[in-house]
Amino acid sequence: MLRSISDLDDLQYYGKSVFMRVDFNVSVNDGVIGEDFRIRMAIPTIEYLAKRGAKVILASHLGRPKTRDQTKSLEPVAKRLGEILGNSRVSFVDDCIGNVVLDKIKKLALGDILVLENLRYHQEEENNDSLFSRKLADLADIYVNDAFSTSHRKHASTYGTTEYFDIRLAGFSLKKEVEYLSMIKEKPHKPFTVVVGGSKIKDKIGALENLLPKADKLLVGGAAAYTFLKAKGTKTGNSQIDEEHFAWVTKALKLYGDKILLPDDHIVSSSPTDSSFSLVKGDIPDGMIAYDIGNDTSRRYSAEVGGSGSGTVFWNGPMGMFEKGQYANGTINIAKSMALAFWRGSKTLVGGGDTLEAMKTAGVSESEVSHVSTGGGATLRFLAGDGMPGLEAIQRI
Ligand code: 3PG
Repeated sequence: MLRSISDLDDLQYYGKSVFMRVDFNVSVNDGVIGEDFRIRMAIPTIEYLAKRGAKVILASHLGRPKTRDQTKSLEPVAKRLGEILGNSRVSFVDDCIGNVVLDKIKKLALGDILVLENLRYHQEEENNDSLFSRKLADLADIYVNDAFSTSHRKHASTYGTTEYFDIRLAGFSLKKEVEYLSMIKEKPHKPFTVVVGGSKIKDKIGALENLLPKADKLLVGGAAAYTFLKAKGTKTGNSQIDEEHFAWVTKALKLYGDKILLPDDHIVSSSPTDSSFSLVKGDIPDGMIAYDIGNDTSRRYSAEVGGSGSGTVFWNGPMGMFEKGQYANGTINIAKSMALAFWRGSKTLVGGGDTLEAMKTAGVSESEVSHVSTGGGATLRFLAGDGMPGLEAIQRI
């Protein structure tokens, strides 16, 4: 059972420092932030704590630096958070442990927000080092995890440090994420449709093994579809085939073939750099590679997703190489039919970084889906039923 921040009396926050693990791992180029969804989604929890008179200490990683690296600094993120909140109560400190940080916290007023520098500037973070964990815990009285997307990591800030806190709680976004993903993992509203794309079958096998028995339909697109088609005997030209997981795909088709939908027309070209492309039905000619699902498939898939307005739809992974305009159609249509399904009353969930980008390309906003899962690896791991150390740590009695 997850205890969340609203399960604690308001008064318990007053005058306390709260160590809040967030996932501010966003794209930053030359100090300019790209997609800031992960920052925005932490705001309800940050404001809830600040309004109750806590000092809110935000800790995150950004990228995978092995040591100090200015391009991976969280300073621009702190700036963006201040802009979003429209107040001057957000400050930044250029380390995440030690006296400089402790001094800074001491000087914060109640309700102030402090963003710590990238946790991964210290190797000890990823090593789940106990001394480093202790030093993180020295910064605050209460621990809050609002970083579902990094809760599959057994790191000091997601795991080790929790041992030193008496109070360990889930933030709002983590709680919502766990509730939605548990719903589709355990008891999805029926009919349950899963749409899966992208290229890596390997990462999705665990999740699919759990979802396939419950799903009424699995719609496959993206490069993943061509391994399925090949296993069914369709000619796939030079399309990318995942030989390593061919046996798994063959088995899945044998067990669940009646509910697995595959593309039957495709947008093909000879290479990603060749600007000419064509639509083919059925077999893919020798030398050709499929880069998107074709128009008929797209219509068929869209009708499955957006048609009924009942049940649950989960979408992970684009239908093709949507970064290139000529191959974006299939993905854009899925994004739009996800929105339609939502407006008609289905529970809709999207997961995975690429899927979010695809929604943006389609002009579909996050408010047009029931839940956007920010986790890539974490979401798939949770759905696969694999361990989530960050969640286990806050549920420990
Ligand atoms: C993510 O972007 O998936 C999370 O922030 C985890 O990042 P990591 O894979 O570098 O641990």
